[in-house]
Amino acid sequence: MSSNVVWHDQSLTKAKRREKNQHHSAVIWFTGLSGSGKSTVANAAAKRLYDLGVQTYVLDGDNIRHGLNKDLGFSEEERKENIRRIGEVAKLFVDCGQIVFTAFISPFQQDRQTVRELLETDEFVEVFVSCPIGECESRDPKGLYKKARSGDIPEFTGISSPYEEPASPEIILPTDQLTVNECVEKLIDYMKENNWF
Ligand code: ADX
Repeated sequence: MSSNVVWHDQSLTKAKRREKNQHHSAVIWFTGLSGSGKSTVANAAAKRLYDLGVQTYVLDGDNIRHGLNKDLGFSEEERKENIRRIGEVAKLFVDCGQIVFTAFISPFQQDRQTVRELLETDEFVEVFVSCPIGECESRDPKGLYKKARSGDIPEFTGISSPYEEPASPEIILPTDQLTVNECVEKLIDYMKENNWF
């Protein structure tokens, strides 16, 4: 970074925005295999919070890769950069007083840890969206597992590229055992227990 770039403090602080919104702001970081249900649960939770008057936003792998991160592929280095950028964007949302859901495979423990360290301890909640690969593969909502098995997609997570499970996530959502609503309730319970609103 150039030494001629100087940080400028904003007069409207995170604390003021939270006070006005009357709720906490933080990142709910979903991690899990493709097809595990990250986006589905994130969107359902955002809808539920909207009805409760809570400000949210969902950052989703497939969507972000159409825009901000459309220059990135799926090598280890590119996934790392993908997650680094999302971490920075998510932090802006937290600053802005929102609860931001991120739905990215984010397969590497170190990359998730780096995002955690960007934020305060009560601003990062790691949610392991746990679903056996066999179940994700049978769901195959985008037909990608089929293509990965036939070799049409290289470096596919869970098949030809690794997925590192979180060692100690704040929340685990076994989507092969819970309904979407049950997952949402678990998230809301966590927020209430921690006095987010
Ligand atoms: S991450 O690994 O860098 O976190 P991200 O969540 O952004 O991945 O994107 C994953 C989505 O991209 C998957 O849900 C799938 O739709 C699509 N995709 C395309 N190629 C791959 C691949 N090689 N591995 C995993 N997902 C892929």
